[in-house]
Amino acid sequence: MENPRDRILMCPPDYFRVDYVINPWMAGQESSLDIELATSQWRGLRDAIAGCAEVVEMRPEPGLPDMVFTANAGAVYGNKAIASHFMPHERRPEEPYFEHWFRDNGFTLLDLDDNIGFEGAGDCLRDRRGPWLWTGYGFRTEIEAHAKIQDFFDLEVISIRLVDSRFYHIDTCFCPLSDGFLMYHPPAFDYDSRIAIESRVPPHKRIVVDTRDAGDFACNSVNIGDHVFLNRASEPLKARLMLAGFRVHEIDLSEFLKAGGSAKCLTLKLNEPVVA
Ligand code: ARG
Repeated sequence: MENPRDRILMCPPDYFRVDYVINPWMAGQESSLDIELATSQWRGLRDAIAGCAEVVEMRPEPGLPDMVFTANAGAVYGNKAIASHFMPHERRPEEPYFEHWFRDNGFTLLDLDDNIGFEGAGDCLRDRRGPWLWTGYGFRTEIEAHAKIQDFFDLEVISIRLVDSRFYHIDTCFCPLSDGFLMYHPPAFDYDSRIAIESRVPPHKRIVVDTRDAGDFACNSVNIGDHVFLNRASEPLKARLMLAGFRVHEIDLSEFLKAGGSAKCLTLKLNEPVVA
């Protein structure tokens, strides 16, 4: 299942801080961040991923503490990208840096209306088997973005409504895995969205994540081939993943959880093969 050519974009945490509160995890964390620990945790994740993929690093910018979360740079499909338009004004100054990075690296960009919220791969995930995108809305991405994504990428968008503010990006509660497996935390979605998920993913491919594991950001995993990199998973969840054929790597990312992010948020997969 390994694909040695996977390319993963990351941004070093040189200026990472919890300076403002734009999701429930950040509340009260302003002074508790250990930046040295964050740096060694980030390097641990980078080095682990570099064992099975190519890690591309972009330059961090002073004063942009959340830029480390490259999942929110934009969404990528083939040589096309849609750069994010952040909902919280605190993150809007990151937009030109991500946009330039995509342009400088040969991606064709969609000019998405400024007044439509869209937070990139945080809310837009390729299914690993079917030709569609699981796309979240409700907190950081607006439903108005969905049709534009579908038109620009020429790929079906399945709209998934997020209903729990702790799981404000779809990648915090939903993780498509190789061979059509799916890790997800059902209470994070509304009823119709759960039906949409269940109608596309057969029961033996669904890996239900409970509140405790979801709170440890287990769904926020990086999946490369049969490797799954995540912050932490309970023994039953690890056993379930192993039974499905995955190798689970736990990498403590405690400092990033204080900003409401974890492994997947810290990465952006740059090679999303186009459906023939
Ligand atoms: N503090 C960041 C924010 O709230 C965390 C982003 C996490 N990214 C993600 N893809 N879930 O925007």
